[in-house]
Amino acid sequence: TRRVTVRDIALAKERGERWPMLTAYDALTARIFDEAGIPVLLVGDSAAMVVYGYDSTLPVTVDDLLPLTAAVSRSTRRALVVADLPFGSYQGSPQQALASAARFMKEGGAHAVKLEGGERVVPQVEALVASGVPVMAHIGLTPQAVNTIGGYRVQGRGADGERLLADAQALEQAGAFAVVLECVPAALAREISGKLSIPTVGIGAGSGTDAQVLVWQDMAGLSPRVAKFVKTYADLASDLGDAARGFAEEVVAGTFPDEAHSYA
Ligand code: KIV
Ligand code: NA
Repeated sequence: TRRVTVRDIALAKERGERWPMLTAYDALTARIFDEAGIPVLLVGDSAAMVVYGYDSTLPVTVDDLLPLTAAVSRSTRRALVVADLPFGSYQGSPQQALASAARFMKEGGAHAVKLEGGERVVPQVEALVASGVPVMAHIGLTPQAVNTIGGYRVQGRGADGERLLADAQALEQAGAFAVVLECVPAALAREISGKLSIPTVGIGAGSGTDAQVLVWQDMAGLSPRVAKFVKTYADLASDLGDAARGFAEEVVAGTFPDEAHSYA
């Protein structure tokens, strides 16, 4: 086995092959997803919510995300590991973006980074790519901009669709190897996907994108509330709740541990 590379991702687009991406934040789940054949794993700043318990992605820092990224890189053999650049770690300048990305690659073992924004982050994307950092872009609903957007809502309706297409094309031109389209109308996402030569990765963007991404706790039924676009493929919250209750009952009853789980 060798790592998936950005070249493989480009070839998949040429061949018209769709591919899945999942988030990952720790060793055991990253290994499971790697062995399940998920080719790209994202250490998302959604860790702010699903790992750290914040109610938006804004509070997490590079220092918060680095150990999670390192855990995912160490525990996988095949997946391309993409690290999210958190809020405030790249918007300032291309130099700041490069310094942050270098930490994710050197200390976190990431193979690429993701950042949010359209034309305004083109200088960052160009500087990163010129320095050898593959960049996944992210437009549409960009959660780090929740305060300027005014909530988590569908983006790109009506005339805004033109701007999203222009953003996507500018990011492709700047050298991004893929672009996430979050919470945009399906028809717009399909149109953008058809006009780009780099793959689009949809989340809440319908079936016309080249790839799809979900936060793993959402798709596995661990998250208490999920958006309309999330499909759940497992019911881990109830399985884990049952496990915890089962353990608790047996401890209280004195039936765990039994002889089979004790040393003579
Ligand atoms: O942080 C994240 O999990 C993401 C994906 C949902 C695209 O950015
Ligand atoms: Na993110």
